[in-house]
This record gives sequence, structure tokens and C-alpha cells, in this order.
Amino acid sequence: MSNLVRFGVSLEEDLLVKFDNHIKKHKYTNRSEALRDMIREELVKKEWTENKEVTGAITLVYDHHTRELVTKVLDVQHDYHACILSTQHIHLDHHNCFEIIVTKGKSKEIEELYQKLKSIKSVKHAGFMMATKGKDLP
Ligand code: NI
Repeated sequence: MSNLVRFGVSLEEDLLVKFDNHIKKHKYTNRSEALRDMIREELVKKEWTENKEVTGAITLVYDHHTRELVTKVLDVQHDYHACILSTQHIHLDHHNCFEIIVTKGKSKEIEELYQKLKSIKSVKHAGFMMATKGKDLP
């Protein structure tokens, strides 16, 4: 673990009020922890824009009765098998399925996989969560 360094920050009062409201809303106990999280979030975004090795999750909601939809969803996943770690399929009810696809690989490839799944006709909802492998993040 690296050394803890203190530094002063000058902010407009209005901006500080907004920051403190944000902290309260998100249940942070102090400004430092909130700031650390914001910095980490930006660094993870940077990993994604620079096409680094990352992890992430894709979620899908679809009706498995829709003709050929399951085949299309599976075909795309097989095309990207190298960056899929696992897939969890949950039967929500008689018609609807919820799928969580856990990915690891180059960010551009994962984004491409997400766009291909999202754009399949009749997919009711597609979600995307960027994450990091964590090794370059203190
Ligand atoms: Ni199902």
C-alpha cells in the first residue's frame, strides 16, 4: 500500500456544497473517501477509453419464445467466447429470461460484444457495467 499524502483543494463554495450533498446522498463518512472513489472511477473510464484489458458485465432481458432470438444471442456469444468468462441465465417467468455475461478482455472487444447483443431485434433490455481488473488501481 502506498503512503497517504495530504493536499489542499480550493473550490468554489457552491461546488463544495454540491459535493457535500453528493457525499451525504451516497453515505460517505468523509470527503476523502468520496474523492478517492471519484478518482478511481475516472481511472477505470480511462482504462476503457485506452482499450486496456478490463472486466465488465453485460445483462440482457429477452423472451426466449421469440423466434430464433436465443440462437442469435448464443451465436454472438460464441463469436466472442475468448472474452466471456461466464454466463448466468435466470428464468424470470414463463416468457422472460435474464442473462448476466461476465467478460474479461480488451475494452473495445467487450463494447463491440455489448453493441451486437443489444442490437439483436427483440432484446427487451441490455445493460452494461464497466469494471477493472484492479491490478493498476491503488
Ligand atoms: Ni430462460
